[in-house]
Amino acid sequence: MRLFIAIEIPDDLKKALGKLRLDIPGARQVPDGQIHLTLAFLGEVDEETVATLTGELSRIRSPSFELCLSGAGCFPDRRRPRVLWVGLEQEQRLNDLVDLLRKAALECGIPQEDRPFSAHITLARFKIPASIEVGAFLEQHAKLGLRPFPVREFTLFQSLLTPQETSHIPLKIFSLAET
Ligand code: 2AM
Repeated sequence: MRLFIAIEIPDDLKKALGKLRLDIPGARQVPDGQIHLTLAFLGEVDEETVATLTGELSRIRSPSFELCLSGAGCFPDRRRPRVLWVGLEQEQRLNDLVDLLRKAALECGIPQEDRPFSAHITLARFKIPASIEVGAFLEQHAKLGLRPFPVREFTLFQSLLTPQETSHIPLKIFSLAET
């Protein structure tokens, strides 16, 4: 099954992010309910490895923290935007958690990206880049700031792709330590 690990965003913030979105031609918007912060992408994982992985993940001891959404950006760059996202204020405990998750995945034989983690919440994807409209969105939301929110857990999700839609099914929630 196709898996990823993510932080759930509180409903009020998902709604606020949903309201931000512009009508940009060709944008494939992430449905409000599916907006999340990806920590690690695992890809196709067999059942046996999922069992080992959940064991590894439940052994992770990492402190809880607060996150604050801030600013907007796009990948790979403004000339050819493919992914439009909202950023987050720097939080070392988030980066440390991602390091632990990547290590756990690697120990289970699940390959991980070498590039550093770049915290972002995807709002929309583009097959055909709309650089002018995305540029306007980024200018408009450069100073975006929403309320901070506490992060006390992370979730292992299954991503089910059908020709019609993608659904995200929470498989297991892992608690962070109280601080
Ligand atoms: P992102 O868009 O937030 O960066 C579930 O599919 C999540 O896994 C997506 O939200 C996406 O994160 C991430 N993802 C999907 N396919 C990926 C891939 N091939 N490599 C890395 N991350 C991927």
